[in-house]
Amino acid sequence: MNIILLGPPGAGKGTQAQQLVKERGMIQLSTGDMLREAKASGTEMGKKVAEVMARGDLVTDEIVIGLIREKLEGEKGGGFIFDGFPRTLPQADALGQLLADCGERLDAVIEMQVDDDALVERITARSTCSGCGAVYNDKTKPIPADGVCINCGEAKEFVRRADDNEEALRNRLMEYYKKTSPLIGYYYAKDMLSPVDGLGTMDEVKAEIAAVLDA
Ligand code: AP5
Repeated sequence: MNIILLGPPGAGKGTQAQQLVKERGMIQLSTGDMLREAKASGTEMGKKVAEVMARGDLVTDEIVIGLIREKLEGEKGGGFIFDGFPRTLPQADALGQLLADCGERLDAVIEMQVDDDALVERITARSTCSGCGAVYNDKTKPIPADGVCINCGEAKEFVRRADDNEEALRNRLMEYYKKTSPLIGYYYAKDMLSPVDGLGTMDEVKAEIAAVLDA
């Protein structure tokens, strides 16, 4: 089964993708994580995208489609969770073609609905394990008192993302409504869209997603 987790910044896409990886053995393909890895490794592409990401703008379709193409060629067998991709109509068209090229298809698009106030609150309280990328939240999922990550069992640093500030977030939201939200109509027209209330607790959201996948 190949699915898209669609939703604004802070909707909980990464959090729920990590659950699906753990519980269903699916493969998370997060373009945000791929771009942050490129940035950290100091590649030419990483340098090019760093400023764009810090502003909260979208990276070019060409770059992110290239990243997804590479991953799909390297990973066999499907079971992909597309987290943060596609984000534009050309990316959605490209994904359909890339999946068809490797004999796969898209099974569901889960739209995680969360209002803007909750998004800002969540993102400004987020931190991530620098070892495994597990996502924490000062209010809803605090970092363990002993500093050991629940997911990887390591005492790594817990970091805040460079684009998790109010100004970049405002821009990320604008980009979402302008360029990504048209995908809701795109997948609705293909009868693939399943809206999920992303405002519930993490377990409630997980149960709603499970109900869609098991249906
Ligand atoms: P990306 O890394 O994809 O960021 P994003 O889409 O802005 O989404 P986030 O990772 O911020 O949020 P999330 O929905 O995963 O929420 P999370 O689970 O962490 O992209 C970053 C940048 O890369 C973009 O701005 C762009 O520049 C570039 N980029 C990436 N992909 C691209 C593409 N395809 N095209 C072009 N450019 C691209 O949860 C957030 C917080 O809330 C956490 O603290 C979590 O613990 C908490 N939380 C989660 N669920 C709940 C819940 N149910 N209740 C309470 N708290 C919750």
